[in-house]
Amino acid sequence: METADLVIKNANELVTLKGPNRPRIKNEMSNISVINNSSIAIKNGKIIDIGKGLKYKAEEIINASGKIVLPGFVDPHTHVVFAGSREFELNMKLKGLSYMGILKKGGGIFFTVTKTRDASIDDLVLQSNKRLDKMLEYGTTTCEGKSGYGLDTDTELKILKIQDKLNKTHKIDIVSTFLGAHAVPKDVDTEDYVDTIVNEMIPKIGNLASFCDVFCEEGVFTVEQSKKILEVGTNYGLTPKIHADEIVDTGGASLAAEVGAISADHLLMSSDNGLKQMAKKGVIGVLLPGTPFSLMMQKYPPARKMIEFGIPVALATDLNPNCWTENMQFMMQLACFNMKLTPAESVTAATFNAACAIGLNDTVGSLEKGKQADVVILDCPNYKWIPYHFGVNLVETVIKKGCLL
Ligand code: NIG
Ligand code: FE
Repeated sequence: METADLVIKNANELVTLKGPNRPRIKNEMSNISVINNSSIAIKNGKIIDIGKGLKYKAEEIINASGKIVLPGFVDPHTHVVFAGSREFELNMKLKGLSYMGILKKGGGIFFTVTKTRDASIDDLVLQSNKRLDKMLEYGTTTCEGKSGYGLDTDTELKILKIQDKLNKTHKIDIVSTFLGAHAVPKDVDTEDYVDTIVNEMIPKIGNLASFCDVFCEEGVFTVEQSKKILEVGTNYGLTPKIHADEIVDTGGASLAAEVGAISADHLLMSSDNGLKQMAKKGVIGVLLPGTPFSLMMQKYPPARKMIEFGIPVALATDLNPNCWTENMQFMMQLACFNMKLTPAESVTAATFNAACAIGLNDTVGSLEKGKQADVVILDCPNYKWIPYHFGVNLVETVIKKGCLL
């Protein structure tokens, strides 16, 4: 009999996401390739077999009868490294102050920038580790992390170096995005800051990041400034991503298509034309329903329209001090209840398409032979329970690179 390190047997549903190795669109998002009463065998950190009646001699066997098995969730948009908190903004928001109103008063991102600049590396590692632990507990086995609370060359590099260290020391895989263009530092001219980003920051990034992101928004960076930053990033090997059309439609979705971004994120206010351009270029729409939720907005991204247009949709937490959640299950719940994604579509958006949004679909995002064994077991009888039984953590067991956590 062949041997395995770990076998998970009798899963009520093995939600494999098996399918084409590219972002899933339209009906493909509903085809999550569920197999019933099946098993999965893992060896040397990889999936070696999947199916019914597997016969392996394994060191560890987990009986998942009555439960479901999924690929670990992938969170493709987080601002995980930051210092401090902003719970006091809740009362401001309740009084009707807008996100931009708080930012313009010198709060919001600027408050967190001051805290992050002042924090020691050890302290930032400690605070971020706690969030990464929480992510794992809730079933996220891979995430993206952005810089952006430095807004000066040293602190931006400090954050990226911390993410590099966390990637090597924490169980979660973290891919890094440079977001020097998260806001314009106080008392600095925007054009001067754009010059600093393109001439000073980007050339120093090297291998510390895979992606370059910009907060393209009215009162922050214009489409022209964003384009310049993303094009210089591309010249240095950084794939573009964009915080697009979150509060106002400034044409961020079209820009994403124009610069060949891997994803455009937020997209609450995007025009139909912008969305259609994204669909044409295959730009993934990363939707962050925690943000309008935490901003107490009535509006959510038009996910149904995006799917109809042919945009591959992914979900992420946007974990940051304004929207503090590590919970991808909650994003799936919000996506179903407030954006009308079906449970199956929400699964694709939180796993395979999310992996595509950070370029990791060759290794994670689905349960297929040869892929990294990032697997979660949920204590519920079928995948529709993920949005159905909301507000709790259904994840019971997390397996990262074949290791039982
Ligand atoms: O994606 N909108 C810009 N950046 C973050 C929020 C950062 C913050 O408020 O600290 C976002 O929502
Ligand atoms: Fe964000």
